[in-house]
Amino acid sequence: MVFSPSLISKLQRAESVTVFTGAGISAESGVPTFRGTDGIWKKFKPEDLANFDAFIRNPELVWEWYKYRKQLMGSIQPNAGHTALAEMEKRFAQFAIITQNIDNLHRRAGSKNVHELHGNVERNYCIGCGKTFADEEIMKMDKAPRCTSCGDLVRPDVVWFGELLPVDQWQKSVSAAERADIFFSVGTSSVVFPAASLPHTAKGAGAYVVEINIERTELSPFADEVLLGRSGDILPNILKLCRSSRMSEQN
Ligand code: OAD
Repeated sequence: MVFSPSLISKLQRAESVTVFTGAGISAESGVPTFRGTDGIWKKFKPEDLANFDAFIRNPELVWEWYKYRKQLMGSIQPNAGHTALAEMEKRFAQFAIITQNIDNLHRRAGSKNVHELHGNVERNYCIGCGKTFADEEIMKMDKAPRCTSCGDLVRPDVVWFGELLPVDQWQKSVSAAERADIFFSVGTSSVVFPAASLPHTAKGAGAYVVEINIERTELSPFADEVLLGRSGDILPNILKLCRSSRMSEQN
């Protein structure tokens, strides 16, 4: 794979790299994306399930969907894209992943500095008292899980439609975007705000913005480079480039 001289030289000199990921990076692990040809949007209306009012109206239905997604996400593995990012983290003074995904695959691949903007499907908490619950406990309960302390409903720790992003994760993400020398946007349609504003924040603060996607998106006209292809193919090649171009700093 051939990369532009600009990207090669930026990678050689970068102190701080930030990577913003969306559902596309997990597609090669078998997690359906939200939009696109086989997106889950086609099979049902997510706004009927992924919002607090729907949950209160019909917790059984919402939990049926989340138990299905927990099982799916628990049964898959990180792919070459996730693994390459975990390796890249070791090669830069500052390296952050900002993800919109709830599948925990970045951490499972070994990435350490991960900011989760939309929560994590492996965590759950009581809407009454805030007590947290492990998946093992949740999956054993037949009906919509109830808190063992206060009896209120337990929900997955993910951001639903109409809810605010977790403040600490958002602030860390903005900081990571602002300090990036290179900002990669990987496998996201770049249409869901405020997350989709982060590449623009990075660019405004001077970052070199590189998009990796199988097709052009709303971000493409603003990116310094668009690398068209699968993240599971492109990211391992970028890691190879880091290994060769940053060799002297590692040895
Ligand atoms: P989308 O499903 O909107 O976009 C997935 C993107 O990945 C598309 O642009 C695809 O072209 C691209 N893609 C698919 N396979 C790829 C591959 N192998 N390599 C590279 N790119 C690939 O998913 P998101 O942008 O993540 O929010 O969606 C953003 C948010 O919308 C989600 O986090 C979710 C949803 O509302 C919440 O649930 C709060």
